[in-house]
Amino acid sequence: MTKILFKTNRILSAVLTKCKYSTAAKSVATVQINGKEFISDDYTNVTPKILSYLGRNLHLEKNNPLSLVRQRIVNYFYSSFTQRGNPLFSVYDNLSPIVTVKQNFDDLLIPLDHPSRVKSDCYYINRDTLLRGHMTAHQSELLKAGLDNFLMIGDVYRRDEIDSTHFPVFHQVDAVRSQRKDELFHDKPDLEIFEPTFDPNNPFAFPNSIDDPMKQSCHTLEATKLMEAQLKNHLIGLVKCLFGKNIKHRWVEAYFPFTHPSWELEIYYENDWLEVLGCGIVRNEILASAGPNNSIAYAFGLGLERLAMALYKIPDIRLMWSTDSGFRSQFENVDLNAKIKYKPVSSYPQCKNDMSFWLPPNLTIDTFMNNDFYDLVRDIGGDIIEQVKLKDKFVHPKSKKHSLCYSIVYRHLERTLTQGEVNQVHKEIEKAVVDNYNVVIR
Ligand code: DAH
Repeated sequence: MTKILFKTNRILSAVLTKCKYSTAAKSVATVQINGKEFISDDYTNVTPKILSYLGRNLHLEKNNPLSLVRQRIVNYFYSSFTQRGNPLFSVYDNLSPIVTVKQNFDDLLIPLDHPSRVKSDCYYINRDTLLRGHMTAHQSELLKAGLDNFLMIGDVYRRDEIDSTHFPVFHQVDAVRSQRKDELFHDKPDLEIFEPTFDPNNPFAFPNSIDDPMKQSCHTLEATKLMEAQLKNHLIGLVKCLFGKNIKHRWVEAYFPFTHPSWELEIYYENDWLEVLGCGIVRNEILASAGPNNSIAYAFGLGLERLAMALYKIPDIRLMWSTDSGFRSQFENVDLNAKIKYKPVSSYPQCKNDMSFWLPPNLTIDTFMNNDFYDLVRDIGGDIIEQVKLKDKFVHPKSKKHSLCYSIVYRHLERTLTQGEVNQVHKEIEKAVVDNYNVVIR
């Protein structure tokens, strides 16, 4: 089962401060999310565990692989599309994941009996409200706000099994690019976006059909084909930018209720085809209801986890949620475009100890050689040293003495370390530091 696509041909499957289920005196059960109260009903199936993921915003977290991929995608769109030197696309990466059924389904022409609506696939807060199942849920409202080129990035929620590639919360980038006749056909003024029988000022008088696999009946073939070429070119450009120019790809015809025609892009990765995104020409009914009645748009949606796992060879989706510094430090202060290959960290727990010392008068916080210190720590601690990090520098206002504080993370690759044995090693390191640098441990 795929996690990223809202297909019909088969069943697919703010910081949260408090989340509690309460039953008030009138026996109205409510769900509280971030201080807001929702009346629950027979559809309510969000759990406190799922609600606890709200507000984590992994896609915005520093050092998170998802955030690195997000930045690379945004940069690609910023540099590929500019208007008088400014980026054409605006980015929305902090929209609330609590949406209405109208936003998530109705506005996108998703039929009432569509399998993606079923309770067993979504996290409903109640009959009218749910945790968004895809970022496309914001497409209509942003079009209504008058936007024509935008990216929507955030966490999405789907009930699913949990395994190494599935997690009930994941992250998507969704985009819309729309163009008017003068933009699409600026050098071909005799071509039109719409068929002559279609009146853009009265769009709903026209029964827009999707029976023709090539195009929507309101659009001309030229407009559809030109949009398709631009869409495919930009998305191939994106995967090449992420995976390198030799990445093999293929297009697969697809079906989404909100686009026609529609495609999926697959890349060849580790001896298999991996589906990375869904896209298509936005159904004109959506554009016309939201506002712009004289343009044609393409849209796409991709899953950040899938891309990050493939790019950095991360074997388990749960690692994205890891706060373990052994994992996170691998994505810290890195060049966005550098090739990073995730190195598995031990599953045994870490032990963290800090070391603070006053420097002797001949050394200052700026002349003390961090790297020498790191080597010394490794010399004494050996392989159980996972990380050493400068945590704090300090000059005493009165005595003018200089002080440094390092945090040392210990972890054994094959067994659990006891705090006692870590303390022993830590003491030995302290002694070596005192002997070598003449420091005074604080
Ligand atoms: N929303 C779809 C999903 O989550 C992906 C998608 C497909 C987004 C086509 C789009 C699109 O914007 O045009 O499965």
